[in-house]
Amino acid sequence: MSIDSTLSPIPLVDLQTQSRLLKDDILRRIGDVIDDARYILGREVEEFEKEFSSYCNVDHCIAMANGTEALHMALRALEIGPGDEVITAGNSFAATAFAIAYAGAQAVLVDIDPLDFNIDTRLIEQAITPQTKAIIPVHLYGQPARMNEIREIAKRHNLRIIEDSAQGHGGEINGERCGSFGDIGCFSFYPGKNLGAFGDGGAVTTNNPELAEKLRLLRNYGQKQKNKHDSLGYNCRLDTVQACVLLSKMRFIEEWTESRRQVADWYRDELADTDVILPKAHEDCRHVYHLFVVRTPHRDAMIAELGKQNIYCGIHYPHPLNTAGPFVQAPTFPHGLPVCSQLASEICSLPMYPEMTRQQVARVAEAVRVFASNQTPKHELV
Ligand SMILES: Cc1ncc(COP(=O)(O)O)c(C=O)c1O
Repeated sequence: MSIDSTLSPIPLVDLQTQSRLLKDDILRRIGDVIDDARYILGREVEEFEKEFSSYCNVDHCIAMANGTEALHMALRALEIGPGDEVITAGNSFAATAFAIAYAGAQAVLVDIDPLDFNIDTRLIEQAITPQTKAIIPVHLYGQPARMNEIREIAKRHNLRIIEDSAQGHGGEINGERCGSFGDIGCFSFYPGKNLGAFGDGGAVTTNNPELAEKLRLLRNYGQKQKNKHDSLGYNCRLDTVQACVLLSKMRFIEEWTESRRQVADWYRDELADTDVILPKAHEDCRHVYHLFVVRTPHRDAMIAELGKQNIYCGIHYPHPLNTAGPFVQAPTFPHGLPVCSQLASEICSLPMYPEMTRQQVARVAEAVRVFASNQTPKHELV
């Protein structure tokens, strides 16, 4: 593929601009940690937990090593394990289903709504059996899952809710924040996330004090006091150095989220008259646009064409979870996850980051528009 190098690159995400902006502040905070050698569960971790719980409008935040372990610890705290089933969306990142498997439970995969890309709540009840213990809705791409419907289903069937909010920082439904809808909310601070560390990081949120206490023990070898292990625990702590990065970035998360929403509005304006399908954003939701995902049956050719113009797209995710080795036998509703399967070949994540300019969005949109106008339909879109 020959790339037109006269055009400056537009990456899928930009991890450098924010870090450059905050470098001095972050280095100063890390310098303090080095001076006092508070590398594990230092003061900054507690400070970050306070800030993040208030951001999510919940009583408790417990910082974790990463988002996958946040999900795993949430399942452990709710004592979900062998013999239990947990329902989740068939199009999530593999970590959601992996965490269920780590706990020894069975992942049950449900198909998605083709317009908002989240779990299709009309299908959830078909997937419930006497073994079902919990639902893990995923706020995929930054759009909150339909939590009001999910809460009603969970109440009717006495199920727990664990939110996978790895992509949902600051998302809302009618003013309620992601991470506050379920029994436990799970976040990732992987570098590319809307709030990203300089390595791995994660957190759980809850309004339940007993669960909060359990989660604190679980992440730190079951210790209330050093070397007194009251229960089985894990090593799932957020490093103090990562808490410094997150504290520094927390000051800008709202500004960055609003910028992402602005970029999404620009894309919507620019792409309104093309054949690519734009993501549906529910009116009662604050979509935080971790990713801006469009659909076209000519996805691979479009990514290749944009690449030639130095514009870089992604696919989140190219394979539904029922095709991943550990989950090929997982129950699926409906059988084979037809919507997830079709969308896996159509979805394309366009460049999205808070620092994107109107001109950059216009350049991406123009490339998409020209490409789309030269295609003839390949297959029916669902
Ligand atoms: C939806 C979803 N769930 C879980 C995870 C796992 O988070 P982490 O990479 O921090 O372990 C991620 C992120 O990669 C994710 O996007």
